Amino acid sequence: MKILVLGSGAREHAIVEALLAEDAGHEITAAPGNAGIAARVETVALDATNGRIVTQYALDNDIELVVVGPEAPLVAGVADALRAKGVPVFGPGKAAAALEGSKAFAKRIMEKANVPTGRAVRATTGEELASALDELGAPHVVKADGLAAGKGVLVTTDRDAALAHGEYYLQHGPVLVEEFLSGQEVSLFFLADGHDVVPLSPAQDYKRAYDGDEGPNTGGMGAYSPLPWLADRWGAEAAFVDEVLDTIALPTVRALEEEGTPFIGLLYCGLIITDEGGPGGGAVRVIEFNARFGDPETQVVLPRLTTPLSQLLLAAATGGLGRLPYPTFSDEDAVVVVLASEGYPEDPITGREIEGLADAAQVPGVTILHAGTAVSDDRFVATGGRVLGVVGRGDGFRAARDAAYEALGRIRLEGGHYRRDIAERVVR
Ligand code: AMP
Ligand code: GLY
Repeated sequence: MKILVLGSGAREHAIVEALLAEDAGHEITAAPGNAGIAARVETVALDATNGRIVTQYALDNDIELVVVGPEAPLVAGVADALRAKGVPVFGPGKAAAALEGSKAFAKRIMEKANVPTGRAVRATTGEELASALDELGAPHVVKADGLAAGKGVLVTTDRDAALAHGEYYLQHGPVLVEEFLSGQEVSLFFLADGHDVVPLSPAQDYKRAYDGDEGPNTGGMGAYSPLPWLADRWGAEAAFVDEVLDTIALPTVRALEEEGTPFIGLLYCGLIITDEGGPGGGAVRVIEFNARFGDPETQVVLPRLTTPLSQLLLAAATGGLGRLPYPTFSDEDAVVVVLASEGYPEDPITGREIEGLADAAQVPGVTILHAGTAVSDDRFVATGGRVLGVVGRGDGFRAARDAAYEALGRIRLEGGHYRRDIAERVVR
């Protein structure tokens, strides 16, 4: 199949690797890609957020499936432009992508679909913000309504900081003040074809910059999959997955179908498992929806997928998910650790050389995924905040984790930093 993958991060690199691993002779192009992706497949310098340009490219090159990685093209309507010309595309149109693009829209759909989530109050003025903070109480959770690249959310006990954060984002649009929810976070992905929904395997993301969940929120510093501790409470991971499918993912997709804005693509359920209730009884609540694969969770979910990814994505894009068996996963455990540039997330320093990649790739069970890299004078240089995702796979989390950290130890990037505690809690 001729497949075009849009995006330039480690998530897109993971998607490309999963498609290559099928060994099905796909002709894959990535736009714009990065240096790691370019070492594996053809890349083209397209503006992935421009629907007209992407559609023209797809038509000119007989692309049979477009896979949209990041949220920006979705919110910009790139999937709509492709669909209008009959190009199969994995990714929702602009209207359904508002599930990620507007937190207020997401709350409305959750209410309509009776999906469990925290209480939220929308504020459009400083006065409304202040009264919402008092109404919901501390700890305060303040979220920008629109896309803010992971920076729009502040969780704090400091009312003044919550007020300042909200007032800053009020300059750009509404903000949401939410009830604080405490518990373990789970990222669970579902493929949807507008009507039918099938689950992938859960992962856990590490959002804070430093060990012990200290420091600022980031795009994600690491992840692991599967989540063995889900079985402690649900008996089996599959029971948890079924509960989320029945109470969250399917009702949400059906609510969007009913509104005439079908969700075709990946529904990312960002969940929190509260201490309340129990299995089947209100313990799981949604903290956010995204309209695309998570980054870095995809880097640990896709390597475990044993069903051909292209079949699933094409079935979602063309309305055939209900006819396929559920995706299956290997028993291996997977861990990804993100190497970030000095100064990330606030002010990353880019342009520095990355050394030791070839040596690191020799570690058994390791795949090095590129996030923000380019080649300059035959050398790899860091071009972004998140530079690499080092994935370790193995029989057990200890082996997977040891492999990832062994490889990271062989990579040199001046000022580069990574968390040392990714997946520590699941090494038993
Ligand atoms: P979001 O961008 O909505 O995923 O929020 C980023 C992070 O903020 C989440 O991963 C949580 O750690 C935290 N967060 C978001 N909403 C809440 C909430 N209602 N209660 C507690 N923590 C939250
Ligand atoms: N890892 C969080 C996200 O993809 O939004």
